[in-house]
Amino acid sequence: MALSASVHAATAADEAIIERIKPVGSVCVQGDENCGGAAAAAATASAGGGRSGEEIYTGKCAACHATGVLGAPKFGTNEMQLRLDEKGMETLLSHAINGFNAMPPRGTCNDCSDEEIQASIDHMLSN
Ligand code: HEC
Repeated sequence: MALSASVHAATAADEAIIERIKPVGSVCVQGDENCGGAAAAAATASAGGGRSGEEIYTGKCAACHATGVLGAPKFGTNEMQLRLDEKGMETLLSHAINGFNAMPPRGTCNDCSDEEIQASIDHMLSN
């Protein structure tokens, strides 16, 4: 009887561990109906395009683009516009996302969605 009780206790402990680690191991894809609660809200916040181009620019891109570090097209000049005229938006966006020479992928904004990168390019072009 003592043996069976201890086996049962071990099983219960295992189940408790499985229960505890389950949410960590489950993958939450944006838009997945099964992902509820704070984790889903956090995932949406970081990948959902909720930030404005100005916020992303100020937080991430300005470090180089405000002063033209390493030849970055400088904010408040027509340098980005000239690149747009020359290469087109598709190329600018893909360079901003994938990196281009000294321009780091996503301008170091690793949790920026493609839409947020686009919005920050638009912000630079509109100034
Ligand atoms: C570490 C410095 C740095 C940061 C941070 C940075 N950039 Fe850049 N970026 C550059 C440099 C340098 C270039 C010019 C690269 C070249 O022409 O060789 C550039 C070029 C670009 C271009 C033009 C690409 C092309 O094809 O001519 C775009 C668009 C761009 N950056 C967008 C962004 C956005 C959006 C952010 C913020 C999310 C950002 N950058 C953050 C350094 C930076």
